[in-house]
Amino acid sequence: MNQMSATHQFVAEPSVSVRDLDIAFGAHKVIADLDLEIARGEFLVLLGPSGCGKSTLLNAIAGLIDIADGEIWISGENVTWAEPKDRGIGMVFQSYALYPRMSVEQNLSFGLKIAGLPKAEIAARVEKAAALLHLSELLKRKPAELSGGQRQRVAIGRALVRQVDVFLFDEPLSNLDAKLRNELRVEVKKLHQQLGNTMIYVTHDQVEAMTLADRIAVMRSGVIQQLGPPQEIYRRPVNRFVASFIGSPGMNFFDGEIVGTGDGLSVALKGERVDLSRYAFADRPEPGRKVAFGLRPEHIAIAGARDGQVAATGPVEIVEPMGADTIVWTRYAGQPLTIRTDGESRVRAGDTITFSFDPAVACIFDAANEARL
Ligand SMILES: Nc1ncnc2c1ncn2[C@@H]1O[C@H](COP(=O)(O)OP(=O)(O)OP(=O)(O)O)[C@@H](O)[C@H]1O
Ligand SMILES: [Mg+2]
Repeated sequence: MNQMSATHQFVAEPSVSVRDLDIAFGAHKVIADLDLEIARGEFLVLLGPSGCGKSTLLNAIAGLIDIADGEIWISGENVTWAEPKDRGIGMVFQSYALYPRMSVEQNLSFGLKIAGLPKAEIAARVEKAAALLHLSELLKRKPAELSGGQRQRVAIGRALVRQVDVFLFDEPLSNLDAKLRNELRVEVKKLHQQLGNTMIYVTHDQVEAMTLADRIAVMRSGVIQQLGPPQEIYRRPVNRFVASFIGSPGMNFFDGEIVGTGDGLSVALKGERVDLSRYAFADRPEPGRKVAFGLRPEHIAIAGARDGQVAATGPVEIVEPMGADTIVWTRYAGQPLTIRTDGESRVRAGDTITFSFDPAVACIFDAANEARL
């Protein structure tokens, strides 16, 4: 599967379709020929490093920026030239710009008043959103009297009361401390389960992406590198960029070369050789191909080899206890190797350990173009 076809997935009943999208700021092309279809009720996460174009894409869907070319469809309508308010979307930003002089209740109801909804309808919607977001007790307070997490819930509430089909979130939790972020992340997931709306959620946090998404679109320099369910992105990353963006600690990479013939291929690493008869190649390489051999820290065991596994020994350089797990730093094939082992591990710096892995769960990438082999 090449990188283009990996992102050209069409869904049966699209809620949002982005077709052939081009966006440029002056001469600077930020997004080129981007296609993306999001199913009704899907939770889609746009994931990528700072500056890759996540907010630009979201803002284009919202109608907040001009596009150079392409079309945007929402709920079966071409909204490419529609005003943001006419697109049937609700948006939550990283900086939750609440009206400081208004109470929570007024913040929630303001947009509906402007839209001219009847009073009873407004009250019902505010009550429902407040209950969903645990804000019912706080309706009379001003934003200054709320915690960061509560303020962010009000910001989400302002999008909720609009009762739209599609919610757009741009890093809504990134201003919160780690504990609050985890709590609100679970609430966002619950909210999605209860409401069943389409959600497009921008983040550069891989944990948020993995835990929330039905599908993740991993972006780099304005191009979707891979689009798929979290487990697929984790297990079968299409290139080295995607592989290194997901997982913590990150995947270990070793420089190597494919050797052998026919079915009997191996990878020669510095001073080591790994038999690849158990590795399912997506794109079978010829001997002599330079590759990067990738191993996730959690796929390596501090134990001898069992069937089909590869074992090696190495010096323990650093041990990082993390509570539930321990990260052990050793060396393999002349390069550093991190191993994620259990929290009860008694391994100490200075020990020599035997470790093993199954080549079937490795990831092998072409050294030059970084595509998965
Ligand atoms: N209004 C603008 N004018 C010029 N360049 C812009 C503008 N907005 C964004 N860019 C550029 O477009 C690129 C994509 O920006 P964007 O804000 O979409 O990134 P992002 O993926 O959301 O990053 P972050 O995670 O930092 O929010 C960047 O190179 C940025 O500098
Ligand atoms: Mg952004």
